[in-house]
Amino acid sequence: MAIKKVGVVGCGIMGGGIAQVCAQSGYQVTVSEINDELLNKGLKVIRGNLAKSVEKGKLSKEEEAAIVGRLKGITKVEDFADCDMVIEAATENMNLKKKIFADLDRVCPPGIIMGTNTSCLSVTDVAMATKRPDKVLGMHFFNPVPLMKLLELVTTIVSSQETLETMKAFGKSLGKVVVVAKDTPAFIANRIGVPMFIEAMKVYEAGLATKEDIDNAMVYGFNHPMGPLALADLVGLDTLLYVYESMYADFKDPKWAPPLLLKKMVAAGHLGRKTGKGFYDYTGK
Ligand SMILES: NC(=O)c1ccc[n+]([C@@H]2O[C@H](COP(=O)([O-])OP(=O)(O)OC[C@H]3O[C@@H](n4cnc5c(N)ncnc54)[C@H](O)[C@@H]3O)[C@@H](O)[C@H]2O)c1
Repeated sequence: MAIKKVGVVGCGIMGGGIAQVCAQSGYQVTVSEINDELLNKGLKVIRGNLAKSVEKGKLSKEEEAAIVGRLKGITKVEDFADCDMVIEAATENMNLKKKIFADLDRVCPPGIIMGTNTSCLSVTDVAMATKRPDKVLGMHFFNPVPLMKLLELVTTIVSSQETLETMKAFGKSLGKVVVVAKDTPAFIANRIGVPMFIEAMKVYEAGLATKEDIDNAMVYGFNHPMGPLALADLVGLDTLLYVYESMYADFKDPKWAPPLLLKKMVAAGHLGRKTGKGFYDYTGK
């Protein structure tokens, strides 16, 4: 089936980015949130990103208007019924994702494919919440979606080759570099990258270096575009804590144990850029 209309569940950091990139790539996009307030907040962020691109001369006013015109916000799952595919980017919680997929399965035509942007949950478990598990894959985008080129597609033992080929072509149409991983905790990039984040937090927690020096060490020593603590703030510390806890539960290896400091920061509501405070302070920015 030709994909023209894409549904995106969740208009937070990732869902907003995915909706924006799909609309920029010419797709009609229907994006959902749990209420009007969060929907308007998410759509405002997208419009702000597009306006910045116009200011920088990367986008014309006409292109901006066309992209905004391709975006539709909704708060009812029934409004995904006319989409040709749906990408879920809601909060990282298995019960929530299972409920979302069961609802999508009920309202969407049986032929359409679905992706979950989960960072570390079992794609197989999510797929099995539907009656079309062969048509469900992991679709792991990276943050910020408009800038990051990588898309990890995650196959399961029940997903079909046809679904994979369709998703590969779709990912390439968004300008992404597509890699394919089997359904294992954290897939490829996070499995390799997450231990580095945890180690950076432990070095900071132990008082071995300042946050700036930890970040500078990785930026200037390893040529990373951003240090791990600044990147953790960008990703969202609550999301990271959830990822680490889930990987620790899966692997039972202390290597994945979340640092105590991270737990305390999340308990205090210091979630990174999204709340204005994380390892760094963004309140004045
Ligand atoms: N933040 C990252 O860097 C990153 C990177 C890759 C993947 N992910 C994954 O992407 C997903 C979303 O993460 P995020 O960082 O965008 O989180 P976020 O908190 O910014 O956004 C999640 C949004 O989903 C909404 N939501 C919850 N239930 C919903 C429902 N039933 N219908 C519609 N919307 C609903 C929430 O209101 C929230 O706005 C998670 O699975 C996360 O693990 C995150």
